[in-house]
Amino acid sequence: MRVITNVSRIAVLASGGGSNLQSIIDHFRTGPANKAGTVVLVGSNRADAGALNRARSAGITAHVMTDFTDGGALLLALRAANVDLLVLAGYLRLVPDKVVHAFAGRMLNVHPSMLPAFGGHGMYGERVHTAVIASGAKFTGVTVHFVNEAFDQGPIAAQWPVPVLANDTPQTLAARVLRIEHVFFPAVIEAVASGAITVDADNRTVGSIPAHSPFAVRDAQLFFPPA
Ligand code: GRF
Repeated sequence: MRVITNVSRIAVLASGGGSNLQSIIDHFRTGPANKAGTVVLVGSNRADAGALNRARSAGITAHVMTDFTDGGALLLALRAANVDLLVLAGYLRLVPDKVVHAFAGRMLNVHPSMLPAFGGHGMYGERVHTAVIASGAKFTGVTVHFVNEAFDQGPIAAQWPVPVLANDTPQTLAARVLRIEHVFFPAVIEAVASGAITVDADNRTVGSIPAHSPFAVRDAQLFFPPA
């Protein structure tokens, strides 16, 4: 008997240690069997990225891009692996337009703030959290967005807030945000892989995280003062 499955084949690009990559691998490999995706390829612009070792340890193909500006080569690798969904998890290079166009509506990035605040070129890692604290903002958060040609500007797929506490340093804030990234990002990837969140022809996000997820926004979670 042929079993028909509809599991998205996911590629992840990462430049650093890859803790988000690990959470994505773990999410799609553990827990309920009916997950909407599976990680089939990990790519990096850096041969020494910890993310590549995490991929190898998990038995996933690890690909080093010799020229990360060469969209043609990346597209070939993605097509050869039949990739449906491309995920950027701490990937610090601009993805070539050719790839962005080929994966329009099928490419996600995670950013450690509530975009459009504290995003854009040069805003990554500790710089983001330093700027949040300097601004006096009381909340920051995690944004997962579809990727377009510009850094951090594609349609927002989902966001989750994280409080900024009085004594926070960039390091303590980064750690609190990262804890959320590790559970929120896989949940959003799952929602996109299953078709619960999509982008329409006007480049607007449609749908939301399904109600069974801990990140589903329920009426009871929102406080509104009486009218
Ligand atoms: C995360 O904070 C992510 O939001 C940002 O880069 C960091 C990656 O960390 N885009 P890791 O490599 O997944 O540990």
